[in-house]
Amino acid sequence: MKEAVLEILRHHRGTFISGQELSERLGITRTAVWKHIKTLQQEGYRIEAQPRRGYCLQEVPDFLYPEELRAGLSTSCIGRNIVHYHEVGSTNTVAKQLAERGEREGTVVIAEKQTEGRGRLGRRWESPYGKGIWLSIILRPRVATDAAPSITLLAAVAVAKAIKNFCGLEALIKWPNDILVRGKKVCGILTEMKADMDVVEYVVVGIGLNANLEVQDFPEEIRDKATSLRILLNKKISRVNLVRKLFGEFESLYNLFREHGFSPIRSMWKEMNTTLGQQVQVNTLTSVYSGLAVDITEDGGLVVETKEGTKVFYGGEVSLR
Ligand code: BTN
Repeated sequence: MKEAVLEILRHHRGTFISGQELSERLGITRTAVWKHIKTLQQEGYRIEAQPRRGYCLQEVPDFLYPEELRAGLSTSCIGRNIVHYHEVGSTNTVAKQLAERGEREGTVVIAEKQTEGRGRLGRRWESPYGKGIWLSIILRPRVATDAAPSITLLAAVAVAKAIKNFCGLEALIKWPNDILVRGKKVCGILTEMKADMDVVEYVVVGIGLNANLEVQDFPEEIRDKATSLRILLNKKISRVNLVRKLFGEFESLYNLFREHGFSPIRSMWKEMNTTLGQQVQVNTLTSVYSGLAVDITEDGGLVVETKEGTKVFYGGEVSLR
């Protein structure tokens, strides 16, 4: 009901609408209307209230509230259900707990801040308050376990396309899932999954996108490698609009994946990549390999011509030489 109140206020943005009219249109008492207005004000919506004129929405807060993200969202699955936190340990951890309890596909856990944001290979992911896009998407693809890595690559293509179309920046993908702009990382993706025998039960795709971070928000030791859209564009961006765009891109690609498999996504990934044709070093848990990155396989592995012969990698850290 709070969302319905907001919807009407949004429609009349900048003009007053009376408590009486709101209560009649929504079929609730004026006291109930007033309570919803109070809650919205506490959440950061600037709503002016005047005795005889009613209520006027003047400003929406710069938070990734479900009500904001859903208004004008074109998807039918991704982001239709959103769980928002001002502060959480890790959105991936929460999404996995929800998935365990049977939460439906397309549900997104999103946070303004993570206190224990996790990166790949056990690293920490800096996630300061109100500045980035820290979210996790629950998927339930009906595929075999070995098709799961391709979902990470799908996510990377979705983010790169969203950045390109929303910000006009050339975003490139470093295998498997780092998004770079002008050689610096703006986004990382952490995919986690649960499989039962050989079939995937759920996949959680965690996306960390440095939207409005400023230089001082990054720890000093990563400032030469990481950047944000705000730094690149020299202006703050609308996180809400970018997330909506991302959900749209993600859903289109996911539908394509479900209908035609990984092959069309693989072609897109190859067009947007910055790894193939380069000399790379791959650090796996046990060894280090050097060679020329030549291709990605039908299931998303990186093919490298090394001194020891052709190798296919599904994990590890790749550095461009
Ligand atoms: C990487 O190492 O590049 C992957 C970073 C992934 C970070 C995101 S932020 C949202 C989600 N929750 C986490 O704890 N990690 C992922």
